[in-house]
Amino acid sequence: MTSGRSFYITTPIYYPSDVPHIGHGYTTVAVDALARWHRQAGDDTWMLTGTDEHGQKMMRAAAANGVTPQEWVDKLVTEAWFPLLDTLDVANDDFIRTTQERHETAAAKFWQAIHDRGYVYAGEYEALYCVGCEEFKPESEIVDGTGPFEGLKVCAIHSKPLELLHEKNYFFTLSKFQDRLLELYRERPDFVQPESARNEVVAFVQQGLKDLSISRSAFDWGIPIPWDASHVLYVWIDALLNYATAIGYGADEANFERRWPGYHVVGKDILRFHAVIWPAMLMAAGLEVPKGVFAHGWLLVGGEKMSKSKATGIAPETLVDTFGSDAFRFYFLSAIAFGQDGSFSWEDMAARYQAELANGFGNLASRTVAMIGRYFDGSVPTPVEYAEEDLRIQQVVAAAAADADAAMEKFRIDQAIDAIWTIVDELNGYITDNEPWVLAKDEARRDRLATVLYTCAEGLRALAVLLSPVMPKSTSKLWVALGAQDALGELGAQDVRAAGTWGVLPAGAAVRSLDPLFPRIETE
Ligand code: ME8
Ligand code: MG
Repeated sequence: MTSGRSFYITTPIYYPSDVPHIGHGYTTVAVDALARWHRQAGDDTWMLTGTDEHGQKMMRAAAANGVTPQEWVDKLVTEAWFPLLDTLDVANDDFIRTTQERHETAAAKFWQAIHDRGYVYAGEYEALYCVGCEEFKPESEIVDGTGPFEGLKVCAIHSKPLELLHEKNYFFTLSKFQDRLLELYRERPDFVQPESARNEVVAFVQQGLKDLSISRSAFDWGIPIPWDASHVLYVWIDALLNYATAIGYGADEANFERRWPGYHVVGKDILRFHAVIWPAMLMAAGLEVPKGVFAHGWLLVGGEKMSKSKATGIAPETLVDTFGSDAFRFYFLSAIAFGQDGSFSWEDMAARYQAELANGFGNLASRTVAMIGRYFDGSVPTPVEYAEEDLRIQQVVAAAAADADAAMEKFRIDQAIDAIWTIVDELNGYITDNEPWVLAKDEARRDRLATVLYTCAEGLRALAVLLSPVMPKSTSKLWVALGAQDALGELGAQDVRAAGTWGVLPAGAAVRSLDPLFPRIETE
């Protein structure tokens, strides 16, 4: 493998005020698939996820459960947030918690640096705050309440009343960065993706930026402000720093140099923090801005954003217990255009599982492995002479691999899967057309049978490599069944950018029996 460019990618760090739902699972598997893709391409990859543990939301959740905030986050992180990564088969390289010493120390350093560079002043503030968002809300996201909240101002995202806060605070001179931010979006049109997210951010910054309140003194669950310990850092400007502190900002400069800058994948609910405030903080500290920010859409339930605060959250285990982690990953990453909203439904997931995974990919794998077992005694045959239709499959594989890589470069995981799926569809059609079971009855057509089954096995070899970032479990099983593990080594070590090259699986590889990759789902 080539030792390539640095690819550092992050999920948001989630609030462990409650247990995860499939919205958190969605972002996490998307980032994991991107990271696995780049890791398998030989890029110097690092995937970070974690939890955002300070702030008022956490204090209230802890109080409601009669424990301290630290006890609450320790319990939730251990019992729910670490296990989520196992449930979804996520291969993160690190997990940061903002209550860790490594984060608290480096975060204080970062803000001291911004303070020393003259971007902080003391002032007074009164504004409407949403504890759900942990944010003073801009006019555009304040709406009139309805029902029990009639007559009150509520948050457009959480539909819960806003709280009027009045405090002496420290402020970050965000307004000073307006022009530099607009220049950044102009110079690097792909800094914020997709296009719709970029347009929203540009419009927001063009309206004019206000300075940002960065401290709170009414409570002490947070990181003390280094120059005034009677205040703690506002939770968001503490949380955003995780992306720097986790890779050694202020502690291991060599590692920070190696990894930074990175890419951030977030839900569109927290786009502004990542595409406006965070780059401005980095500019103020004299550091490079991220390579890019990708905002994906929302999973909707009944047309609204699925959320814990509205109790519409579905636990990821519910789906994984029935369909398996590979199907969870495949479904959310392929069924929703990455960057757009999508509605989840059990029926849609079950239908796609059956059509695409069981009947499409799974059946192709089973048939091929079984026929090589039956007609060639379990040994991958040597292709004899390629006909036009065989060469066509080779072209489909090459094009699919190239298109998938191009799509992954644009973070369009859904388009990458679409491209890869052309191989599944073409090969299934190819088997139907060539009827190997008919060829097998005629000794004179043995060469043709060998070429057809080699073509299927080699196409599956490419499929296993290309799909392994999305479905690591089933592709590993397939890899072993194709005899590729013995012949070519670990699946995770196969260069994904070379997957489209034909003729990699050697003839003579010993296939093994394969249980159905996607067994029939029992529905009661
Ligand atoms: O905002 N659809 O944490 P959070 C899709 N701690 N994605 C969803 C979703 C949905 N319905 N609901 C949640 C925070 N998500 C902060 C982040 S980062 C420095 C601090 C995903 O627990 C999506 O990625 O509210 C969204 O941005 C994130 O969870 C919000 O998680
Ligand atoms: Mg949230």
